[in-house]
Amino acid sequence: TEGSPPPRRRAVRGRAVSLSGNPFLKEGCLDHVEDALILIEDGRIADFGPYAETVGHLPAGVTVERYENALILPGLIDTHVHYPQLQMIASYGEQLLAWLDKYTFPAEIQFADRAHAERVAKLFFREILGAGTTTAMVYCTVHPGSVEAFFAESERFNTRMIAGKVLMDRNAPAALLDTAQSGYDESKALIARWHGRGRQLYAVTPRFAPSCTQAQLDAAGTLLSEHDGLFLQTHLCENPDEVAWVMDLFPDRASYLDVYARSGLVGPRSVFGHAIHVTEEDFCACHRAGAALAHCPTSNGFLGSGLFRLFDALDPKRPVRVGLGSDVGAGTTLSLLKTLGEAYKVAALRGTKLDAARAFWLATLGGAEALRLDDRIGRIAPGYEADLCILDLAATPLLGFRTGTCRDIEELLFVLMTLGDHRTVRATWVAGECVYDNRRAGDPLRY
Ligand code: GUN
Ligand code: ZN
Repeated sequence: TEGSPPPRRRAVRGRAVSLSGNPFLKEGCLDHVEDALILIEDGRIADFGPYAETVGHLPAGVTVERYENALILPGLIDTHVHYPQLQMIASYGEQLLAWLDKYTFPAEIQFADRAHAERVAKLFFREILGAGTTTAMVYCTVHPGSVEAFFAESERFNTRMIAGKVLMDRNAPAALLDTAQSGYDESKALIARWHGRGRQLYAVTPRFAPSCTQAQLDAAGTLLSEHDGLFLQTHLCENPDEVAWVMDLFPDRASYLDVYARSGLVGPRSVFGHAIHVTEEDFCACHRAGAALAHCPTSNGFLGSGLFRLFDALDPKRPVRVGLGSDVGAGTTLSLLKTLGEAYKVAALRGTKLDAARAFWLATLGGAEALRLDDRIGRIAPGYEADLCILDLAATPLLGFRTGTCRDIEELLFVLMTLGDHRTVRATWVAGECVYDNRRAGDPLRY
């Protein structure tokens, strides 16, 4: 119509792969196109198919960005990460509860300073986009300014992000505590400002049961009931001492999960980090509620928390939604490729085999399903938002040598998840724009 701007058109050509369904539940979900053309219009995928069949739909005047010896994937999805913990990643020697007291809380106190939050948010986006991650579900700190800084940076890139202010009103340094009322009020104001603005979405974020009074957990439930489409993120059954502490603090609850359920926090947009020490009952309750779990293998290894039961969680008899989480700063990398390599080892230690199709589903469409965004992100398909991660099959001499011997797409993907890291990421596209290119001199575009 008159006055509306012309559509923003882009085109990307290269070998591409995308999951069309959940390989834990059915076979044949890997869509692989040796020489694909992806047509993008106003940030969404307009067409995707073999180059020879799709090039006829290429509008005149649109230049094709071609990636050689590369693999184009949907942007990777991190379902559990703490951006304020970048500054204390790789902190030595403790398990969860002592690690929080000794390293995490002192770092988070610094986010009272808005300028500090802005610096760390900038670094976070630079790091995740360089790692091929285009969506994340993110913990900020107790300070509303930490959320403002995060969403403001996300808006610059037009990334689809879910984040929220941490709620914590006990068992932490006074400088990190809110109250049930102030946490509610501040969350409400942030929701009004950010939830549904562009691609930004809000998650009500009680840190975990030990840092929240009953009144605060109830206030979180009230927030969820008052707004459409809000998310809930928290931690669940990460560490045996933590689980014992929760049962001590909430003696009349049937389980750790039940503490959250009684406040209305176990629902279809709830994402629970870790869920290592859960029971079959808990898996069933999550299945019934449609709640999701975030598998955080590098964190669970680093803090000595335990081995997540991935194949039990996804048992086709009562599948629970599962996404992949870096959980930085307990996690040791923001790279979801490296995280998948660690997920394979966790599965192996449990006597199971995490094949490449299942693994890449976890990092893309599975994550999108966990976040209830699988109609918009997590796939390369018409109508989907054009978030892409392009991997360089010869990013290092060893990788080039090894990928050169791969006979099929499954083997190639497995080599990439085992050897891949941030160096493997050739480029990252967000909503139809290239926001990171590892061959561009100096700082990548828009940093
Ligand atoms: N449990 C409560 N807070 C945290 C946190 O910041 N990181 C991890 N890994 N577990 C938690
Ligand atoms: Zn966490």
